[in-house]
Amino acid sequence: MKTIQLNNGIEIPSPGLGTYRLGRNDEEVYRAVRHAIEIGYRHIDSAAFYDNEKPVGRAIRESKVPREDLFVTTKLWGSDIVGKRIEKAFEESMHRLDVGYIDLFLVHWPVNGMIVTTWREMERIYHSGRVKAIGVSNHLIHHLDMLLKEAEIIPAVNQVELHPYLVMQELQHYCQEKGIVIESWSPLGSSKIPLLADAVIGKIAMQKGKSTAQVILRWNLQKQLIPLPKSTDWQRQLENIAIFDFSLTSDEVAGIDRLDRHQRTGVHPDEITF
Ligand code: A2P
Repeated sequence: MKTIQLNNGIEIPSPGLGTYRLGRNDEEVYRAVRHAIEIGYRHIDSAAFYDNEKPVGRAIRESKVPREDLFVTTKLWGSDIVGKRIEKAFEESMHRLDVGYIDLFLVHWPVNGMIVTTWREMERIYHSGRVKAIGVSNHLIHHLDMLLKEAEIIPAVNQVELHPYLVMQELQHYCQEKGIVIESWSPLGSSKIPLLADAVIGKIAMQKGKSTAQVILRWNLQKQLIPLPKSTDWQRQLENIAIFDFSLTSDEVAGIDRLDRHQRTGVHPDEITF
């Protein structure tokens, strides 16, 4: 597993395992995370909203991998921001995960009018020593501009929907310039768009003897993006981390960049309400 250094010196493993709608029940989540850790995943991405912190935490505790070798993310949900219960929500996530500390705590979505006050609370939680790093998710440039004007701590991470049909080039440049690492959610386009059937990526995959998914995940790595693919299928979990024995040329990376259609599978960050 590769690691990338965050802006506060913490190392974050890449890829991570996405867990949104991973499995139909707690047992499936537990089994998927347990298996992922067994085969080499060291970074698990969870969230209060996913309602899976308990089985994720249990899989981490019961794995044979020392806690300090694993990287655990969870996220603060918008209604906890609106309801002014950020500290309480954080404590509840800590309790459900029960893994001692959290590596990365993210603001799940920007809440209009509350971006700066939320970030102050995040900074306070960071200073309390219960998380190794703080960041945001689904924040666009105008959200980050607002936050950075008042921030004492620069977010370590911005986790956004990102894949070859939604490349977010400007946001990538912006975050790179500010020292914010981007994580890609739904890096394979979820099941909502036929990204895995793309002919351009398929051709590269065939030439390399790799799958389309592997080429997309490798494209993430070479762009210093941290992909968070999810799968309950053990074979696919393995496939999604077997991406260190080949590379893409700069022309191939640029060719995949050009597939951008600004196509979202999820909600636009300016349109979410709580
Ligand atoms: P499954 O759990 O059945 O493997 P996302 O882009 O949001 O991470 O979603 C990826 C979706 O594609 C998941 O629903 C997952 O379903 C499936 N998937 C994950 N890895 C692969 C892969 N290597 N090849 C094909 N489909 C995949």
